[in-house]
Amino acid sequence: MTAVTLASTAAELVAKGKGILAADESLPTIEKRFNSINIPSTEENRRTYRQMLFTTEKIERFISGVILFDETLRQKSDDGTPLGEVLARKGVIPGIKVDKGAKAFAGFPGEKVTEGLDGLRDRLAEYRDLGARFAKWRAVIAIGDRLPTAACISANAHALARYAALCQEAELVPIVEPEVLMDGDHTIARCVDVTLSTLESVYQELERQGVELEGTLLKPNMVLSGKDCPQQAGIDEVAEATVRCLNEAVPSAVPGIVFLSGGQSSELATAHLNAMNALGGHPWELSFSYGRALQDHTLKAWAGDPANVAAAQRALYHRAQCNGAARMGTYTGQMEVAA
Ligand code: 13P
Repeated sequence: MTAVTLASTAAELVAKGKGILAADESLPTIEKRFNSINIPSTEENRRTYRQMLFTTEKIERFISGVILFDETLRQKSDDGTPLGEVLARKGVIPGIKVDKGAKAFAGFPGEKVTEGLDGLRDRLAEYRDLGARFAKWRAVIAIGDRLPTAACISANAHALARYAALCQEAELVPIVEPEVLMDGDHTIARCVDVTLSTLESVYQELERQGVELEGTLLKPNMVLSGKDCPQQAGIDEVAEATVRCLNEAVPSAVPGIVFLSGGQSSELATAHLNAMNALGGHPWELSFSYGRALQDHTLKAWAGDPANVAAAQRALYHRAQCNGAARMGTYTGQMEVAA
C-alpha cells in the first residue's frame, strides 16, 4: 500500500508538462533574496511573498508540487487557510524541506555534510499530519583542487539514504538532492566525473539501505562548465553530457529527475531542460524543481509592493509555462519574446 502511494505521488509530481516550484529557502537564504530587492525578511513579508506565489491563477497547469520551508507550512493565507492547504485545493502537492543545512565537514576543509537526521522520524510524522506528501534533503558537493574527497561524497550519500528510508516509512516521497556546485573554473568534463561518482555513491547507499527507487525522485545538478571556466559548454553539449551521465548512473526504476537550477539564469535553465527533453533516449521523466530560475523575475517584479502583485504573478506564470513546454521539448525563444 505504502509503495503504491509513494509511486503514485512521485508520478504525479513528474506529470507531463509539469514540474516543481522550490520555495523552501531557509531563513538566511530568503534574507539574501529579499536583500536583493531591499525589503526586510520579516515573518509577515515571507508569508505575503509566498502567498503571492501560491495564489497565482492557473499555476497548477504547470506546477505539480511546491517545496515549502517549515515556517511556511505553519503559516496561513489572509483568509486563514493554511498555505499548504491553499496549494492542495488547487491540486498542487505540498512538500517540505527537512534537512537542517549543509555544515562544515569535520576534518575536510572546504567540504560540507548535511545535518538533520536526529529526530527526523518525529518531524516527518508531524509534517505528514500538516499535509506534506513529499520531502527534500539537499547535500552539496564542491569541486576544487583536491575536492571532492571520497569521504565527503560517501558521508553525504549515506545521510541521503537514511533520510530517504525514513521518508518512505512516513509515506513521504523523498526527493534525493546531491548538488554538485557550479562554483569554480573546472571544465564540463570534470563536472561529468564528479557528478558520476556522486550519483553512483548515492544509488549504492539507497540500495544498501533498502530504499524503493520507484517511490523516490532525484534532484541533481545539470552537468555544466564551472561558473568561472573560460570555456563555457553550449546548450546542446550540456544536454548531451547531462543525459549521458544520468543514463550511466541512475537506475531506470527511478520515475523522475527534477533538476535544480543552481544559479543558472532563468532562461538558460529552461533552454537546458528543453534540449534534454528534445534529445530523448532516457527512461525517466526529466523535469524541473527550480528555486531561483522560477522566482528571480517574479521577485524583482514584486519588489515588496502590493501594487505589483499582478505583474509578479504574471512573471511566475510565464516562467512556469516556459518550463512546462521545456518538459516536452517544445520551448522556443519565441515564447520569451511573446511575453
Ligand atoms: P535552485 O533552483 O535555486 O538551485 O534551488 C533549488 C533548490 O531547491 C535547491 O535546494
